[in-house]
Amino acid sequence: MGYFITFEGVEGCGKTTQIKMLSELLSARGIHTHLTREPGGCPIADKIRAILLDAENRALAPLSELMLYAAARAQHVSEVIIPALSSGKVVLCDRFCDATTAYQSFGRCIDRGVIDTLNSHACQGVYPDLTVLFDCDPAIGLDRARRRIEASSGPREERFELEALAFHQRVRAGYLQLAAENPDRFLIMNGAESIDDIFSALSTQILTRIPETQRGIC
Ligand code: TMP
Repeated sequence: MGYFITFEGVEGCGKTTQIKMLSELLSARGIHTHLTREPGGCPIADKIRAILLDAENRALAPLSELMLYAAARAQHVSEVIIPALSSGKVVLCDRFCDATTAYQSFGRCIDRGVIDTLNSHACQGVYPDLTVLFDCDPAIGLDRARRRIEASSGPREERFELEALAFHQRVRAGYLQLAAENPDRFLIMNGAESIDDIFSALSTQILTRIPETQRGIC
């Protein structure tokens, strides 16, 4: 089996930049890596992503939102994550099941038991070996994320960026609670530091944690 690393944090925490840099570093070291994201990661889940992030879908009910994240995850796990791990790859996934707990339970206040049950079905027994949380003040992260959206010419995936600051503060508190509940799995990075400082600390940690068997693949 491969090694499964997930990356989490509030909007604009800098995780996507770091994952890209990490993927390039691991590939340059000859480590077989698969970079993916949620919601999305395969054509069917990408279609669900478009519904979930479209700012025009403000009427989406919290329970419908939850089910769509679970549906996208079930497809992504079956079609992408299980095959990649089975072939021995290191899988880097931009958000996974902890995002559902942080956003839909802490953010939207849906009962945690419902979310744990749905996550356990959608994950099909596949859980992260390591989760990197980029912790960041949501006010700073949101500002960054909104500026990035303004500068982008792609689809306006901003349904969550339009949520109130209090929502994002609950999401951050949720992530910190998940990290406290799972100290062996979580690695917390300070998202307020510079890109280079974060990457230096992150790459050192990741390279020591990836098992010897994966490091030897080339
Ligand atoms: P991102 O790709 O820019 O991180 O956007 C994904 C958005 O979806 C982000 O606002 C977090 C949200 N999200 C959830 O609410 N629940 C989930 O389970 C996942 C994976 C993401």
